[in-house]
Amino acid sequence: MQEIFKRILPGITPIEKERRELKIIADLLLERINSFAKQFQVKGVLVGSAARDTWISGEHDIDLFILFPETANRKTLETTGLDIARKVLFDADKIEERYAEHPYLHGMMNSYKIDVVPCFNIKDTKNIKSAVDRTPHHNNFVKKYIKTCEKDVRLAKQFLKAAGIYGSELRTHGFSGYLTELLIIHYGSFEALLKASLRWKPCTTIDIKKHATHKHGDPLVVIDPTDPKRNVAAALSLDNMCRFIDIARNFLKNPCTEYFSKPARKLVYQEEIEQLFHRRGTELIGITFHKPCIVEDTLYPQLEKMRNAVEKLLTRHDFRIINSNYIVLNADIYLIFELFETKLPMVKKHIGPPVWLKDNAEKFKAKYHKKSGNLSYIYIKDGKYTLNIQRVYTTPTSLFQSELLTCGLGKHITQIIKQDGFSTLSDHELFAIEHPEFRTFLYHLLTHKQDS
Ligand code: UTP
Ligand code: MN
Ligand code: MN
Repeated sequence: MQEIFKRILPGITPIEKERRELKIIADLLLERINSFAKQFQVKGVLVGSAARDTWISGEHDIDLFILFPETANRKTLETTGLDIARKVLFDADKIEERYAEHPYLHGMMNSYKIDVVPCFNIKDTKNIKSAVDRTPHHNNFVKKYIKTCEKDVRLAKQFLKAAGIYGSELRTHGFSGYLTELLIIHYGSFEALLKASLRWKPCTTIDIKKHATHKHGDPLVVIDPTDPKRNVAAALSLDNMCRFIDIARNFLKNPCTEYFSKPARKLVYQEEIEQLFHRRGTELIGITFHKPCIVEDTLYPQLEKMRNAVEKLLTRHDFRIINSNYIVLNADIYLIFELFETKLPMVKKHIGPPVWLKDNAEKFKAKYHKKSGNLSYIYIKDGKYTLNIQRVYTTPTSLFQSELLTCGLGKHITQIIKQDGFSTLSDHELFAIEHPEFRTFLYHLLTHKQDS
């Protein structure tokens, strides 16, 4: 295994020239922040992987924080913070205002991704006013304890990236950079982390400082050494934790370099998908609508919510689901379901109360006895009144037309569908979409193939 690591490390460790270039840019921007020191009592610090020497060669991400005095008020921090950030990034190629708990600036400068984030300089994390106030504390902790394990962090990050589970954004639900660093600090090396993960199960707890004050119900619990209340792994989903365990197990059985590179995307042809689909004997139904103009961290939770809501809606109306997923393609969103069938019979079996519950039984009989459209008389089955009635929706299309907007979609998705509408797409319409990424997505929906 050490042999494999030796082969991987040169490709992911920044060389001296690359470090020097990054430092020049970081120092320049820090100097710019610090030129406002006297005027606003602020201080610039470099945080994140660039400050901890845990970044991967080629990934140029510079995280700069503007520290305001603990006593500054929030409004000042937000307005002055953004003003300073704008001046710091005045010559950037591109800047964009982003939001975490409060606004910050993201810019591109000579292909470096730069975040300039205002925060409060809080001595004791018990008193933090905003989530980003912890970051400088993370920085101090990691710098102090990472010692000679930076290379292990790089190996771990690259391994996680190749598996598609690196990043705590709400799109990924994976391992954040800080979580990766804490796992390496706790277990001592990447190899030790891999081995330890084989014993993880839901609710495994790692508390480096043994100072937790809260119970967490998350799949993995890693108590923040700088804040006893917080689980650093809160964003990690159960499935992504399990993917890590599974891949670690395979790697330990047969270590090879492939685990550190993203598999090439497979090109999928229309005929290939159609054949696969015929072999499965299922049917597809898609919903498509415009993408609302919101950031990914807002959009993806809403898409997840929508997928769950529509699954419930379909299930409630007797449509049986095998697979579902969504894709954001340029300005459109597609939500696709693979179903047992998209045409249900008109008849629906309706089960009423047990015969011995007098009041309910009478109510049921009063309601259904001789109701127009009944497709059978009331009969008794397993002790319950039963009858065959007419179904309201025999196709998902008619179901969506009437009920999609009432099934509990997220705020922005509801807005955009109300405004611009949506369309449903049949399997033939879905297969006809001439877009390689969309085909790969359909192929993955049906096969769950890892490298597509
Ligand atoms: P980054 O997302 O840039 O991560 O956040 P990173 O640690 O620098 O890793 P890479 O190499 O760029 O991928 C910068 C810092 O902000 C805090 C952490 O302290 C992190 O190191 N942070 C970020 C969090 O605490 N939680 C998050 O979800 C994201
Ligand atoms: Mn970073
Ligand atoms: Mn960043």
